[in-house]
Amino acid sequence: MDRIIIEGGIPLQGRIQVSGAKNAALPLMAATLLTDQPVELSNVPDVADVNTMQRLLQRLGTASTMQAGAPGTLRLQTSSLMSTTAPYDLVRKMRASVLVLGPMLARQGEAIVSLPGGCAIGTRPIDLHLMGLERMGAVIELEQGYVKATAPKGLKGAEIKLPQPSVGATENILMAACLADGDTTILDAAQEPEIVDLAALLNAMGAEIDGAGTAILRIRGRTSLSGASHRIIADRIEAGTYAMAAGITSGQLVLQDVRALHLGVAAERLEEAGLLLEDTADGLSVRTANGGLKGVDVMTRPFPGFATDLQAQFMALMCLASGASMITETIFENRFMHVPELARMGARITVHGGSALVRGQARLTGAPVMATDLRASVSLVLAGLAAQGPTTVNRVYHLDRGYERLEEKLRGVGARIERSG
Ligand code: EPZ
Repeated sequence: MDRIIIEGGIPLQGRIQVSGAKNAALPLMAATLLTDQPVELSNVPDVADVNTMQRLLQRLGTASTMQAGAPGTLRLQTSSLMSTTAPYDLVRKMRASVLVLGPMLARQGEAIVSLPGGCAIGTRPIDLHLMGLERMGAVIELEQGYVKATAPKGLKGAEIKLPQPSVGATENILMAACLADGDTTILDAAQEPEIVDLAALLNAMGAEIDGAGTAILRIRGRTSLSGASHRIIADRIEAGTYAMAAGITSGQLVLQDVRALHLGVAAERLEEAGLLLEDTADGLSVRTANGGLKGVDVMTRPFPGFATDLQAQFMALMCLASGASMITETIFENRFMHVPELARMGARITVHGGSALVRGQARLTGAPVMATDLRASVSLVLAGLAAQGPTTVNRVYHLDRGYERLEEKLRGVGARIERSG
């Protein structure tokens, strides 16, 4: 199994091209099931989760080809659905597989999708996805670990109020509503930039969606959607991760294709923590201010709040700040798996329920550590970049799910980082 070995202590300097957003690419790929016409997506990141989604779509009948001579451009066409089953072996690998549920149900009147089960960061049910589809007239049964959803007469527009803003539920309901009969309103919808990107693709395919990026989405159902071409937005989580790589190594990076506002509240917290963020013609410039890193409290919230997907990285940063930081996780109940690993590197962190108290200190020391999920893994990479002595991060496949060419990008700005098989 691959490992990453880092020799820390080098201030990173230079430019990093930020990739297309994984968490936009996955729903956008699922959305292509809504039409029999070809959809061309560019800026698709070459990460394992995208490959898994491609494999799933191929099983459902999608012809999917990377365009020759245009890296990151994927052409997807589902002339007809050959299967309406998303099997356990793929859904188990990647929960975002459930995003094919809404599109298949809306197009074919039937979808059978394996229940994803829990994962390292929490139980992560899909009850809100199912509630929304039921409100649109779907009949949902659970059989042998699979969700069987049917709507033989098609879906009907409805008013759907989410009890909490779920990204995946908003996406599944939004996609299904585009082919429903009548108008749908989603109240307390998720407002993440990835939802805005999904709505932009759907509108380019002929859908009528208003309010993307706000808590109220209004969708006018159409009888069919057409093909389109669309460029996927930059990955704000990858950008935030590299911003913190600059901060934790006292370096200076320019993150191409990104602006500070893409990070939402995280940009403000990073500045309070002692990073200088500046939008330049080249991209977002990030460096540490003269006073060094300072302890800052954060609480994860839905967008525009502080992203849960940046929490682990922020914790690594706070390990080397002066003063203490209280980090509260409110989105997932078990997203502190990086804490014992950071502790192996000398970090002083105490967890009380959903909050972690980080006592900053002058240095971390390299150690062998174990990755548990995507963002936890990359927080260990950040800690390793700043630590004294070598750090070995095991179970690198977690990183490969969502970071495109991580070692290459970091080596390009001076890091000593290698992969070994
Ligand atoms: C998306 O997951 C992202 N994944 C996650 O990114 C991200 O952490 C999360 O949103 C929050 O921002 C993709 O976009 C592919 P949710 P999702 O539904 O859609 C509860 C990463 O590292 N909930 O917004 O699954 C849920 O348990 C990943 O890239 C229900 O209770 O997240 C959680 O507590 C990991 N019932 C909260 O809502 C439901 O039916 C928010 O989850 C759905 C969700």
